[in-house]
Amino acid sequence: MPDTITISGVANVQAALSAPELVPPPGPATLLPGATANLRNAMARFSAGPSHRLRRDSVVSAIDSLPSDSIEGVAFEQTRSKLLGRPLDALTDLGFVVPTETLGRSFGVDEAELDALVVDVGLVASVIGRGQPSGAESDAAVERLLARFASHPNGPVSAASALYQNYDATAALLSVTLLARHLKKPRRSALVRTVRIAIADTTIGDVSVPVGSSVFLNLDHADLQFGSGPHQCPGRNIAEAIVSGIVAAIELGGYRLLANQISYDSTGRPLGLPMARI
Ligand code: HEM
Repeated sequence: MPDTITISGVANVQAALSAPELVPPPGPATLLPGATANLRNAMARFSAGPSHRLRRDSVVSAIDSLPSDSIEGVAFEQTRSKLLGRPLDALTDLGFVVPTETLGRSFGVDEAELDALVVDVGLVASVIGRGQPSGAESDAAVERLLARFASHPNGPVSAASALYQNYDATAALLSVTLLARHLKKPRRSALVRTVRIAIADTTIGDVSVPVGSSVFLNLDHADLQFGSGPHQCPGRNIAEAIVSGIVAAIELGGYRLLANQISYDSTGRPLGLPMARI
């Protein structure tokens, strides 16, 4: 049975994220051969070494070519159009919708195609990010995404990768931002951890990591929430701009979190963020 090791502390986690012996894990058994598995295998996020560098260059170019000055305003307008006076859930109605709409618009997707884009990126995120089994539905969603961005100058995988990374992570960033503002406490890290596999024996700080170990890296620290090392998040500024636009629209719209109605998962992350105009 391979070891499972948890590494915490900023210096040790940074060392682990830069260690060439620790690489992103292969796809889980729930990822069957098909378009979804092929997309995961082609992403920078899940690769290492020279292929990672090439793929990262490509997705970073795609992110850097986005019109960064307009992103906050697009997120603001997309949010405002949904704040129609009735109660809603900031996580499910906004967090899992507005970031994809905003990035989609910024990649040139027509307004009329945004709903379909949100559904497709959500399907891909539920399989690649959350371990739901892949299948005909997710494969078809991947095919549609790649076809939609076929003429992107950095290739369709780069655009699809940026949309995938943006989906769950920016929803989580919105959650921790809204909770921190509501509770008047410092913002927690949006992501709790990331995982690596040891492809050779190594040592991180004073922890020996034998080949084959699964290594959980604790990202629950302000200096680690966007990762570190070669895979460090290149979408940070865009994500913060999207969240700022959403939060500004919520506050200007007079909405407040209904804090006593929020339920949390086992890591203390909210499962929903009910809000009403008060
Ligand atoms: C516009 C939204 C976002 C985009 C386009 C984006 C894009 C990316 C990409 C392409 C990678 C893979 C880089 C590589 O492997 O070389 C990545 C990694 C990462 N992102 Fe983001 N990201 C976004 C939002 C966020 C948010 C909101 C967070 C958390 C607050 C976040 C945290 C991370 C972390 C921790 C990693 C590294 C994962 C690892 O090393 O295992 N990202 N991001």
